[in-house]
Amino acid sequence: MALPLSTLRGRFRGELSDSAAERARASADASFVLGRAEAVAWPNDVDDVVTLVLWAREHRVPLTARGGGTSLDGESVPLHGGVVVDFARWTDVAPVDPVVGTVRVGPGVVNRALHDQLTPSGRFFPPNPGSWRSCSIGGNLATNASGPRSFRYGSTRRWVHSADVVLGTGERVTLGPSTAKRSLGPDLLDLVVGSEGTLGLVTSVTLRLATLPARRTGVVVPVGAIEPLAPLVVDLASRPSLRISAVEYVDARVAEALRQRPGARLPGTGPLVLLEVESDGEESEGRALEELDATLRKLAVSEPASVVADADRLWTLRGEAGAILDGASGRRIREDVAVPVRLVDRLLSDLRRISVDFGVELYVYGHLGQGNLHPNVVVDPESPKGTAVRRAIYDVAASLGGTVSGEHGVGSRKREFVPRELGPVGVRLLRGWKSLCDPDGILNPGKLLPDLGPATPSRGPSPSAGAVARTPPE
Ligand code: LAC
Ligand code: ZN
Repeated sequence: MALPLSTLRGRFRGELSDSAAERARASADASFVLGRAEAVAWPNDVDDVVTLVLWAREHRVPLTARGGGTSLDGESVPLHGGVVVDFARWTDVAPVDPVVGTVRVGPGVVNRALHDQLTPSGRFFPPNPGSWRSCSIGGNLATNASGPRSFRYGSTRRWVHSADVVLGTGERVTLGPSTAKRSLGPDLLDLVVGSEGTLGLVTSVTLRLATLPARRTGVVVPVGAIEPLAPLVVDLASRPSLRISAVEYVDARVAEALRQRPGARLPGTGPLVLLEVESDGEESEGRALEELDATLRKLAVSEPASVVADADRLWTLRGEAGAILDGASGRRIREDVAVPVRLVDRLLSDLRRISVDFGVELYVYGHLGQGNLHPNVVVDPESPKGTAVRRAIYDVAASLGGTVSGEHGVGSRKREFVPRELGPVGVRLLRGWKSLCDPDGILNPGKLLPDLGPATPSRGPSPSAGAVARTPPE
């Protein structure tokens, strides 16, 4: 059944397109999941967003919000057809509120662009996902994204002060306070962070900001002979005077690939731990690096570490790991499990065992300091073998008291594993909240929670919904 776009054109003042090129672009994200966009809408303003939602309710049309299109599990892919609501043009950044330490931004502003715009204010928004050069703040909120700096600063959730949202009912609501603080019931905003566009469309976000340190120095530590790694993390974390804001890991094969990048200059020949050290200036940086050096020696790290004056360069290089593997291996499993930090070595050894048992190549990198690793396994994720490998990875995470998603989200591919983690009561609460916010199930159907049936709009799933090989956007 064709979309009744003619009934929308008269009331919607933004741009609409159902061109083949726009539909193809909006049907995919950076995952290997392919949806079926029937049209793309670029709303002009919040009234337009309300118009879209009311129209979609009337005609039972799925709406899927889109920002930078960098989601890795199909979060921004329209699995059940309908209209993709593209917020990439909503890039306004208001002046920083210096008293509260917040900034109000449009959902489409790109993470790295915001970082650059905020720098003169002496503040920053800490979450820095691997895709920070192209992911949007709206997407960061929708998936509770994080990245290397979450070791010190936590995930996006901690940095959202309030958000304006158009719910799936068409109602407008501001979640979170307009004051610096508020003590008035539970925080409804918290339920929207990480909800993957299934509850409402976020039209404006007020972010909390951290104070920008004078220096952020990258330190690259060859850890060829060091395993277990958890004691290293625990030791570093136990020294707050070091002011370490990121503890990342790349295994030997990923490290080797990164060493080949122009200008990389990474030390050693095996796996690496990448650190970020914050300091107030040259002197305090010197002191921290000395203390770090002594700590590493004590931990028997024998190869010399190297210092990268601008840590952002290191994170940009580290963020290329996924794209490098895309080039080298193409279609593969790209997972995002997290376990309690002290169990990270068991996670690593269990992943190696899976790779041997299934006879598949394994690459691992990620956020060691938070027990959040990205196992990349070279096998078609949707093949029977790929499905078995994914399940084995999720089972390992569960057996270690971990999660199937440390930072990417659930999307369409992990939703059957959500009940195991949330438990029946958690799922019931989430479903209740979903039915209050989106009673017709028009918002991003097929994501986050397993289908009950009626929650999916009656226009029905796309027969082509599923996975295809494609090159993710960069
Ligand atoms: C990263 C993405 C894959 O850490 O989360 O590069
Ligand atoms: Zn990551």
